Amino acid sequence: MKGIILAGGTGSRLSPLTKVTNKHLLPVYNKPMIFYPIQTLVSAGITEIMIVSGKGHAGQFLELLKSGSEFGANFSYGVQEEAGGIAQALGLCRDFADSEKIVVILGDNIIEDNLKKSALEFGGRKKGAKVFLKEVKNPQSYGIAEIKENKIIRIVEKPAQPKTNLAVIGVYMFDEQVWNVIDGLKPSARGEMEITDVNNFYISKNEMEYEVLNGFWGDAGESFDSLFEAAKLVAGK
Ligand code: G1P
Repeated sequence: MKGIILAGGTGSRLSPLTKVTNKHLLPVYNKPMIFYPIQTLVSAGITEIMIVSGKGHAGQFLELLKSGSEFGANFSYGVQEEAGGIAQALGLCRDFADSEKIVVILGDNIIEDNLKKSALEFGGRKKGAKVFLKEVKNPQSYGIAEIKENKIIRIVEKPAQPKTNLAVIGVYMFDEQVWNVIDGLKPSARGEMEITDVNNFYISKNEMEYEVLNGFWGDAGESFDSLFEAAKLVAGK
């Protein structure tokens, strides 16, 4: 299985911190934000990793992370020329994935759980996708899962009236169907190719699994408060 870290976007919610740098390079306690998702993948045994960033900052990622050998990994790099959404950035990784299953992690997601077991289990599956859920206090800010009889029946992106408080965190496992799904996507109301639409495809085919995380989860790029919260969680560990 290969790993993909998506670290593009404009980081507008963290302006002015993101005026001259990419949000995934901002500090979370004592490390640049992107170190955490790298660690999550490497400790899950995934070391072939492609990092997609936005234009203007790609060189900084290369300088900071280099070949990946310091992390015990091998990095490839991609550049998303326009901020067109998570699914669009993911679409740039098709050749890299080369028909293997993938684990995708958003560059601002900081998680405590070790995903090794889940990655091994998913790697052995014939097909499908897997998402990870965590209870949140502000469900309006995330993709929210509705569950019936232990199955996700729908994910709604940033619902005004959330039916649950189970956020779909920014870690996704996909089989190779994902590339065709991305090809068929249309931009959402906010003009982005949504990862939630990709997930809803798998749900409609009854091929979606989920797991609720035990440890902490921080979406460090969601707001100033979440950035601060993530730093506190890391510092307190
Ligand atoms: C994205 C996804 C959302 C998910 C969140 C997790 O939102 O669209 O479904 O819950 O990441 O970090 P974004 O942070 O891009 O607004």
